[in-house]
Order: sequence, then structure tokens, then C-alpha cells
Amino acid sequence: MTFELSERLKQMAPSATMAMAAKAKELKAQGRSIISFTAGEPNFNTPDAAKRYAVKALDENFTHYTVTAGAIELREAIANYYLNHFDLKYNANKEIITGTGAKQLLFEAMGCLVNPGDEVILFAPAWVSYYEQIKLFGGVPVVIDTEADNYIPNPDKLEQAINNKTKIIILNNPNNPTGAVYPHEVLEKIARIALKHNLIIINDEIYERLIYGVNYLPHILKLVPEARDLVLNINGVSKSYAMTGWRLGYALGCEKIIKALNALQGHLTSNTSSITQWAALGALSEPEVEPQVEAMRVEFSKRRDLAVKLLNEIPDLKFAEPKGAFYIFIDINNFLNKKLANGKIYQDDVTFCNDILEEKGLGLVPGSAFLSANHVRISYSCSEDDIIEGMKRLKEFLA
Ligand SMILES: Cc1ncc(COP(=O)(O)O)c(C=O)c1O
Repeated sequence: MTFELSERLKQMAPSATMAMAAKAKELKAQGRSIISFTAGEPNFNTPDAAKRYAVKALDENFTHYTVTAGAIELREAIANYYLNHFDLKYNANKEIITGTGAKQLLFEAMGCLVNPGDEVILFAPAWVSYYEQIKLFGGVPVVIDTEADNYIPNPDKLEQAINNKTKIIILNNPNNPTGAVYPHEVLEKIARIALKHNLIIINDEIYERLIYGVNYLPHILKLVPEARDLVLNINGVSKSYAMTGWRLGYALGCEKIIKALNALQGHLTSNTSSITQWAALGALSEPEVEPQVEAMRVEFSKRRDLAVKLLNEIPDLKFAEPKGAFYIFIDINNFLNKKLANGKIYQDDVTFCNDILEEKGLGLVPGSAFLSANHVRISYSCSEDDIIEGMKRLKEFLA
């Protein structure tokens, strides 16, 4: 073959979470006993209300293009949700757009805001796609590590990283992969720093319904309402309503940025699937769904407690107890460069993850995918039996 791929693509790392999940599935299909702690999605079913709305969309032939931003009924439901849940007002017509997953809206946000050479600050460990999305548009990712600060962004370090090229700060709260939930005072300081330096905050709050120990998370814009025009909220139905396969994300922000996202999306996918839009409307508007979301949160909370208890029983294993999402980020430094039970010595998290999958049938995601080498991410979005069996395998491997 004679053609060359673009330089842009050649510099892009593939999504490691997807790769590990695919490898675990492949081994399972071969008949191996696999426990996968790789899932980035709730293992619950989509609420019935969403399914009913999707069927209704089909029956009533709601199967054509919608406007790019999505059906106004859905955008109104999102506006209502933000009003009831966060006490924040957004204009459904001008300040909300829906798209094919939060991932697409994040990509569009980079496309609309990042000029080559612009610096975008992110806190590591960070979700896999931010870094690659920034680079795709010629931006420069500036990574601030949070491990020494218990995985909470340090506002002083943020202030030091800002210069005249800085354009955006990315926040992901609750956090993937650490499960950290940021304290109010930290959020407030970050919003004030953004205001002072005129920086945009991309506020990825896709896990906002999955918080343990505290029920209510004051929104960054309730803490610093003056920052409203600088904050672009990214959310979606994937994690809150166990609807990852439907592909529906949304963004709320000032008219200028939403208009720009619309323009870009108009050349990308246009609207997301009309049937998906209707399903999301069911999830967001039918009162029966709220208790189901709460039941899912309570179940995740139990699993978190179980996973934390079992991890605490493994000597020398370090991790920060998660307060949100469904992940635990584990430091494996104490297990590198020394002989483990299989007689092998590991120097990095990637080989470690490959071998534990091959030898023990346990799927984990290497921390380097989240810009934090020598760590692994566990997802406890699986049954309690799988958590118990997976932790047993991990303990044996680390012995
Ligand atoms: C932090 C974070 N943001 C965004 C997404 C994308 O979600 P979706 O595209 O399914 O809405 C994910 C999915 O794993 C995530 O973990």
C-alpha cells in the first residue's frame, strides 16, 4: 500500500480502555474464565421509560433528521433537569445542544475553542480522550498531577501553570479514573482563577449522579455564578441512566459557544439519532426514573464498600478511597521491580495489565492510559460475586 495516514492521526494514541475491554471480551469468547474490571459503563439496564419512548418514536415515525441541536422537547427536558437538580437556568433554544455522546461534545468543544499552540490545562490522572482531542486540534495539553494532593486539583499549582497561551481548564468531577469528588472550596477557587485570567472551564460532569456519602453536589456555577459565560457543562445519559449504547450527550453554556458547537456539529453528524433523543426524553422526564437512578447509586455504593474492603486486605496496596463514579485507581509502585507470585518482575503497568489478564483472567486498565504510569484502574461496575472473585485473583497475582 502506498498511501500515508495523516501526521495528526499518526500521533494519536488509541483508546486504551477500549483496547483492554476488547481483549477481555475476546478471551471470554474463547471460553476463558474472565473477570473484567475494565467496564466504563453501568451494568444495569436502560430504564423502561426510555425504552417505551424509543418504541413510541418508531411507531410514530419520529425517524427523520431533527435540528442539529436535537428536538426542542429534549432540550427543554435538559433545561428542566438543570433547573431542578442544580438550580441553574439555561435557555433550551440557545444554550443547550445534544449530540452523539459527551465524547462528541468534548471533541467539538476543542474544535471550536482551540487554536494551534493554545494551552489546555488538565489534571492527571485524566480520562483517556482529553489529551488526544486537544492534540488533534493543535493544542498543547498542560498536565498537572494530582496524586500528591489526594487526586484533588491544587489551585496554587493551577495558578502557576497559567500563562498568556492558556485558554481552557478541563475539570472532570466526579473523576474518571480516581473516583475523586472535588471539595466546594477547590471548585470555587478554580472558578475564580478562570475569571481572573479569562479562561474557559470545560466542566465534564458525566458522573454527577454517582456520588457516595454526600447527596448533593453544589454546582461550580452556584458557587461562582459570575463565571457562567466561561463554563461549558458537559453531561449525558450514558452513566446516569445506563444508556451508553444509545449515544446521547449534551452541553450547556453561553449562546456564543453553543452556537459554535452547532455550526461544527452541522458538518459532523448533524443530530444524534432521533430515536435516541426520544429515549433520553423518557429518561429525563418520566418521574418513575428518578428512584431507579437512586437505586443504581445505592447499589454502586455497596459495591464500592465491598471493593474497598477487599483492597484494604491486600498488604502494601495503595489507593485513594473513591467518593464518586465507579472506579478505583490503584498505585502498584510497591509491586514493580520485585518478583511476584508468577516469578516475574514487572517494570510498568502495561505489561502488568497484559499479564494479569493472560494469566489470571483479570481485566484491568493501565494507569498510563490516564497519564499516570505505575497505576491501574479498577471498575466495580460488575456483580458482587465478580468483585469478590476479581479481588481474589488480584491478591494472588500480587502475592
Ligand atoms: C470522564 C468521561 N467523560 C466523557 C465520557 C463519554 O461519555 P459518552 O460519550 O458515553 O457520553 C466518558 C465515558 O467513559 C467519561 O468517562
